[in-house]
Amino acid sequence: MRDVVVIGIGQTPVEEHWEKSLRHLAHDAIMPAMVDAGIETADALYVGNMLSGQVSGQEHLGALIADFVGLRGIEAIKIEAACGSGGAALRTGYLAVASGVHDVVLVCGVEKMTDAIGGMVTNALATAADQEYEVSQGISFVGLNALLMRRYMYEYGVPHKAFAGFTINAHRNAANNPYAMFRSPISEAAYLKAGMIADPINLMDSSPVCDGAACLVLAPADLYKAPAKARILASAVATDSLAVHDRRDPLFLEAAALSSQRAYAQARVMSSGIHLFELHDAFSIMAALSLEASGFAARGAGVRMAADGEIGIDGRIPISTLGGLKARGHPVGATGIYQVLEVVQQLTGQAGASQVQGATIGMAQNIGGSGATVVTHILGAV
Ligand code: COA
Repeated sequence: MRDVVVIGIGQTPVEEHWEKSLRHLAHDAIMPAMVDAGIETADALYVGNMLSGQVSGQEHLGALIADFVGLRGIEAIKIEAACGSGGAALRTGYLAVASGVHDVVLVCGVEKMTDAIGGMVTNALATAADQEYEVSQGISFVGLNALLMRRYMYEYGVPHKAFAGFTINAHRNAANNPYAMFRSPISEAAYLKAGMIADPINLMDSSPVCDGAACLVLAPADLYKAPAKARILASAVATDSLAVHDRRDPLFLEAAALSSQRAYAQARVMSSGIHLFELHDAFSIMAALSLEASGFAARGAGVRMAADGEIGIDGRIPISTLGGLKARGHPVGATGIYQVLEVVQQLTGQAGASQVQGATIGMAQNIGGSGATVVTHILGAV
């Protein structure tokens, strides 16, 4: 297998892009990434996307986007793994370059969620869960996460306000990211008085519905030394049951544990060697569970890391350094690419006021469903 490096990055701001279609959004991420990499063509394009068929009535994004960005004829495929689609597309692109099948590969995550009204997005997002045994019983995706959060609070005796630190940290960091959706810091009081979405998840525990696209250009390390920005040290995927009730312990994200352990082994690092962690904070409960499953906190102690200030830019393990899913935004199938792009920004000293000083190893973890697909990448500075 060849070593793989990232040689270009491009992104759109995460917001409500009413005036842009899927192909325009993808174009606006791919073009700057290609310019950044100094390339005019590519061997393949892998598109991470979850909802295009349901929200925009458009599938077949590989060929659609390749054609629109002037690359008609190349290999181009859409990859879907619910909210983990972006990470899964990167995994596919990584394998294509590492195996020697392709040299220059574009990996683009794109999502347009706001072209739908009301319940349509809620129903579309619920396809990440088990239709037969969960969704048909009437539960939404936010509802499933609310059950997990309620159970966590009960098992560990944690009050709702203990989760505030995750949201405050994410919004504080997003204020430094020009591509983030919510760029205003929030207080604990604002967190506590936010409207309830699905008890106990309130508006400030939840990522937003939004649009965006991000792109990475991958290439083999030996052929692209000069433009290399960061090296992919590990790429790993693991799975669990879709239905939360089928898990041995609903409060332990087994696929996140498996995926991160595989990644640590590949990169030859331990969790203590990771300098920043872009985790999947779609809901604040997911941030706590990810920290625990990935070895940064003991069971039930993930939430304490937020209260103790360990997750800040200067903390023991900085998370959501440019806003995370909560405040940068979570255009679902694009998120996995935004996360890795932000790790690259950190490793190249491009994170502005959110810069984690001296960061040379960063990890990104993208989750599909309530933990059924977990994709972990570890990157190192070059
Ligand atoms: N955090 C902070 N503010 C938010 C927000 C969020 N997550 N979502 C919306 N807002 C703000 C909007 O900016 C808007 O502010 P304004 O009135 O000052 O302009 C206001 O709240 C209302 O926005 P709107 O888009 O009408 O919100 P909504 O009530 O329709 O939807 C949620 C809010 C939380 C229900 C919706 O964003 C949601 O379903 N999120 C979960 C998405 C999800 O499940 N993703 C997959 C996870 S894996």
